[in-house]
Amino acid sequence: MNRKVTKYKRIGVFTSGGDAPGMNAAIRAVVRTGINYGAEMYGIMRGYDGMIKGDIKKLISKDVSGIIQRGGTILQSARSEDFKTVEGRKQAFESLEKFKIEALIAIGGDGTFTGAKIFTEEFGVPIIGIPGTIDNDLYGSDTTIGYDTAMNTVMESVDKLKDTAGSHNRLFFVEVMGRDAGFIALNTGIATGAEDILIPETTTNIEDLVISLKENKRKGKTSAIIIVAEGDDLGGAYEVAQKVKALDSSYSTRVSVLGHIQRGGSPSVADRVLASRLGFEAVEALYLGYSGVMAGMVNGRVGYTPFEKSIKHHNDIDKDLLRMARFLSI
Ligand code: F6P
Repeated sequence: MNRKVTKYKRIGVFTSGGDAPGMNAAIRAVVRTGINYGAEMYGIMRGYDGMIKGDIKKLISKDVSGIIQRGGTILQSARSEDFKTVEGRKQAFESLEKFKIEALIAIGGDGTFTGAKIFTEEFGVPIIGIPGTIDNDLYGSDTTIGYDTAMNTVMESVDKLKDTAGSHNRLFFVEVMGRDAGFIALNTGIATGAEDILIPETTTNIEDLVISLKENKRKGKTSAIIIVAEGDDLGGAYEVAQKVKALDSSYSTRVSVLGHIQRGGSPSVADRVLASRLGFEAVEALYLGYSGVMAGMVNGRVGYTPFEKSIKHHNDIDKDLLRMARFLSI
């Protein structure tokens, strides 16, 4: 962690990777905190892509009014292949020099911070990260911006699927996002009373799943919901459904992949407050001389975690919660 107290005159902000509800609230907080510190604020479009192309515009306070309640990101987002090359990063640095931008706030997930770490090391541009991803898969923050809203979206959808599952005596496999992390699956599974929850952090045993479904049937349950994280070791919901069918074809089975609907929508109270706090704290951290760290909430207090650590690890899944969910869904 590099600490050197500086007074920045021009700060850039960008969103990168998958969009997440609450990113706009974070942009608003960053821009307005910077303005309070007397800085000129610049929005970089489409993450590293816009930085390379010099697609950068000045943001005044009015530019971020009326966005706290909006999903998506007014700065748009992208996953840049060019930024993975030295040439791309050099072009990005030249764009920043052209606009006299001295420091950056990066809002995104692990890919965003991987790029930020290399960039700050290569060119010495101070960068503070803000965790913005629905996956909640970053170490150094109790939760990430967008996670709460995404879970509420999943919960509302599964509640609806439960109505139709019950009406038709069906077995539903519902796929939720989470390439490497099962946070969304685990907590929405608990919140919706799902019969089982399959996540990447645990080994899924298909025989055990079939046995527990049979047991449910024996007890008189006529429908069931299985939440499957997209990154489960047995595959996504379609693959799992096929494997269950191969062992027991007695179910009327349906698969529902919730997909990108989970990334949209107006942010929840929790995400708006988290985004506002972290946006504010990230700019304060810059002025305190921090760089190369992600601002996060750790046990309810603001903390700073070096990019490397935030990317390499993620918070552990509480396996007891999985056990609890199974106890409660008999
Ligand atoms: O933002 C992370 C994430 O939601 C993952 O859970 C998912 O696998 C991925 O985005 C899909 O993103 P895209 O379609 O934008 O590549």
